[in-house]
Amino acid sequence: MIVLGIESSCDETAAAVVKDGIEVLSSVVFSQIHLHSPYGGVVPEIASRSHVEVIPSVVEEALTKSGMDWDGIDAIAVTYGPGLASSLLVGISTAKALALRLDKPLWAINHLQAHIYSPFLAQDTMSFSEACPFLSLVVSGGHTCLIRVDGFDKMTLLGQTIDDAAGEAFDKGATLLGLGYPGGPIIDKVAREGDKTFVRFPQGRLKKGKSPVGDLDADLCFSFSGLKTAMRYYIEENPLSDTRAEVASIAASYQEAIVKALVSRCDKALGDMTLLATGGGVSLNGRLRESLQELALKRDITLMQAPPAYCGDNAAMIAALACMKHGITGADAMSIDAEPSLRIVQNEIV
Ligand code: KG4
Ligand code: ZN
Repeated sequence: MIVLGIESSCDETAAAVVKDGIEVLSSVVFSQIHLHSPYGGVVPEIASRSHVEVIPSVVEEALTKSGMDWDGIDAIAVTYGPGLASSLLVGISTAKALALRLDKPLWAINHLQAHIYSPFLAQDTMSFSEACPFLSLVVSGGHTCLIRVDGFDKMTLLGQTIDDAAGEAFDKGATLLGLGYPGGPIIDKVAREGDKTFVRFPQGRLKKGKSPVGDLDADLCFSFSGLKTAMRYYIEENPLSDTRAEVASIAASYQEAIVKALVSRCDKALGDMTLLATGGGVSLNGRLRESLQELALKRDITLMQAPPAYCGDNAAMIAALACMKHGITGADAMSIDAEPSLRIVQNEIV
């Protein structure tokens, strides 16, 4: 099964061609970071306009690079949520038009479930089904979730953030340090020269007792808004000097607090599961990858981290899920609308 996937849920316009859910024949990602960085965050109107401008050439490039022609494509897949409504609509309309014009089936895909699948792309170590049951950590700019995965149709949310996502925490922290946008990759780089024990930032633990997130275990949930506030107070009380070393050490300490919060929750959530799979933009973080490797070694479990090219938003993971026949298809897909608040799994609390 060869699928052309389209992704436009936020600030990346992406298209990819994937064979049998694993082999990535092409993956093209046009990032809009340069358009949004002057504003310190994604501006929805700018995002949707840019998607409209570049989506035809991104799709064409993906097809050309795959070495296929339209006849060789079995289906079209597209993200229908969650994300920015006006951005999602650009991808959905493009995919519907292609499916109609080419008379190919359309698959509507849940973006977050695609992040859960992303560690199984472009590798032949283990298939998704062989890995089940496993713990999935999805960490991105909009989500921080722990999911127990027993199969495509059996995913159970174990924990989630009650406020900011980990990526947001990175982005806001970098803004406070005057490092620019997006903060994750910048903090990742700057922190390498810093001392991670320089400041003791809180690790986003929730108060003891009942979780404020439905029936979820409070110990498996995250809270990152206090961390950002702690950084703000720290900077107010200790105005930044111009030394690179100091900024690097604050960044390293801040990153360490986020990483520890993520790794300790994974440790708890694993229970008797013996495989941990990670995806989402933040899963690119060098210190997080290293700490998760240490955890895997300590617990003697298998760690599958999405390949760097498929951590952030991409269309290969979207096409792959359609190859695995996991999504909405047929008439329901042709009449589908953007679902900005689509849940990762049924028991997610939004
Ligand atoms: O998955 P993604 O591309 O888009 C969403 O679906 O949100 O994730 C983007 C987020 C941003 O917050 C960005 O700062 C963060 O991922 N990020 C990182 C790194 N690279 C991207 N965070 C930490 N370290 C990185 N190396
Ligand atoms: Zn994403």
